[in-house]
Amino acid sequence: MSKQFAVIGNPIEHSRSPELHHRFAEKTGIDLEYKKRLAPLDGFENNVNEFFSQNGIGMNVTVPFKEQAFALCQQLTERAKIAKAVNTLWMKNGVLHGDNTDGQGLVDAIRALDWDLTNSQILIIGAGGATRGVIYPLVKAGAKKVVIANRTLARAEQLVSDLKNAVPEAELSACGLDKLEGQFDLIINATSASLSGDALILPENLKFNHAYEMAYGKPSSFLDQARARQIPISEGYGMLVGQAIEAFYIWNSVRPNLKDFL
Ligand code: ATR
Repeated sequence: MSKQFAVIGNPIEHSRSPELHHRFAEKTGIDLEYKKRLAPLDGFENNVNEFFSQNGIGMNVTVPFKEQAFALCQQLTERAKIAKAVNTLWMKNGVLHGDNTDGQGLVDAIRALDWDLTNSQILIIGAGGATRGVIYPLVKAGAKKVVIANRTLARAEQLVSDLKNAVPEAELSACGLDKLEGQFDLIINATSASLSGDALILPENLKFNHAYEMAYGKPSSFLDQARARQIPISEGYGMLVGQAIEAFYIWNSVRPNLKDFL
């Protein structure tokens, strides 16, 4: 029987994970089956237990269950503890393990673009779960200064205070969206603005050399403004592939090459 994998969420129909994992499997010669699982909003834990009791090997977790997955795990990686969210589950000796591969997925996508993170200064817009998940991997990859800008300043300040001990090698600070200024190597849009079709306005006196939009396949005013400045830009498909590769590696000990799947 093929090794069994799944992605769990609600909704789940839109998920690209089965397609990606089947492509990785084909490339690496691993015999697996990867399915979508729609869990009821109050049925996450039961669904996970059922999957692993039927010899499931690994599961990806998507909206809205990443925090519940974090709470359910008996063993967590350092980066999952810091993210307080889990997107990758596996069972080992009867112990449910959890990791968060989103941040490393972003780092790998940025590296695949040949954008240099060494000693970089990064501005992240947004202070939700998406931002929380990427700060530690970005700092481990070389970011030296990270500014978190958010519409609700208090949320950015909270994130900085939660994370600063985890990344002592970098300078973390918070600012309001209305106070955006300065010079950055990279600016990342980690808000859900593009998903809901809202505009983000980047002031002229904010300077940056690269722009990454975490969403993909949506019109993005953030990217439009970056495009107008004629700098290198990317949307989030690479991050999606990157987090999937990292999960595939945890489960199968083989790492497909990200550039083969962009
Ligand atoms: P996620 O887990 O995807 O990060 P989230 O926790 O709901 O989702 O966070 C969404 C982020 O997008 C927040 O930083 C939010 O700003 P607030 O904290 O002020 O709500 C930001 N956001 C959403 N819509 C926005 C908009 N139209 N303009 C600016 N920021 C927006």
